[in-house]
Amino acid sequence: MAHKEVLNDSVKPYNDRESKTHQLRNMFNTISKDYDFFNNLMSWGLAHLWRRKAMRWLHDYRTETLLDIATGTADMLLLADQLLSPEVLRGIDISEEMMNVGWEKLKSHRLDHKTELEVMDCAEMKFADSTFDTVTIAFGIRNLERLTQSLEQINRVLKTNGRFLIIEMNEPQKGPLAVLYKIYVKLYVQLATGLLSKDKEAYAYLTKSMHYFPQGKALIEILTDHDFRLLKYKSFTFGVCSAYLLEKTN
Ligand SMILES: C[S@@+](CC[C@H](N)C(=O)[O-])C[C@H]1O[C@@H](n2cnc3c(N)ncnc32)[C@H](O)[C@@H]1O
Repeated sequence: MAHKEVLNDSVKPYNDRESKTHQLRNMFNTISKDYDFFNNLMSWGLAHLWRRKAMRWLHDYRTETLLDIATGTADMLLLADQLLSPEVLRGIDISEEMMNVGWEKLKSHRLDHKTELEVMDCAEMKFADSTFDTVTIAFGIRNLERLTQSLEQINRVLKTNGRFLIIEMNEPQKGPLAVLYKIYVKLYVQLATGLLSKDKEAYAYLTKSMHYFPQGKALIEILTDHDFRLLKYKSFTFGVCSAYLLEKTN
């Protein structure tokens, strides 16, 4: 079923003129060499744990072909190989520089023979219909500008009953945790990235975009409307990160 496009472009890194995807490509190309360091710094190293916990859910399903969208520096692909040993690993991203960093990591783990990384926008994937058993996306869905089209594409490239695993950060909405989170962003993230990063706007975008992207029930509703069925949903570390495991239904 074709859906009306809903743009996910209310927050952009640098300006209102250029498209979000164009700006994100520049932004991630610029920060590619520092991304792993800052991702660890901002998540206190927990991003690795969250990826691992969620990827383990896929143990229950057979995965021979896996696509990681917004693969960036390829941590999801490294983990998928470790935990699921698929025969085919593919990664796509709009930022070539992020994937260059990822490619070096894949080579050092001797995964270059079974992995391919390609510059591709999730909204315009070139893969044939029903190619993958599993599609994953970690800390990437809130960046997808053409969300509707991207979800349609993910559905298209998945095999019947194929799995779709999403991991995404959340902004705590209310209560003491929301207050603590605001302090954490103001003091820790802004200070650390302000002192250490070449591109402060990039890290401001990463925290601000969390505020506007649907999470929990609201995201699940969107996914259900796009022909996915929820298999499992869990929040980690007081709800600052969530994972969603879905199955293609059409
Ligand atoms: C926060 S990084 C996440 C990287 C990695 N998945 C991880 O777990 O650390 C988000 C990535 O999304 C990519 N991205 C943004 N928009 C995209 C799109 N439309 N299609 C594919 N990748 C996109 C960016 O280039 C960036 O590498």
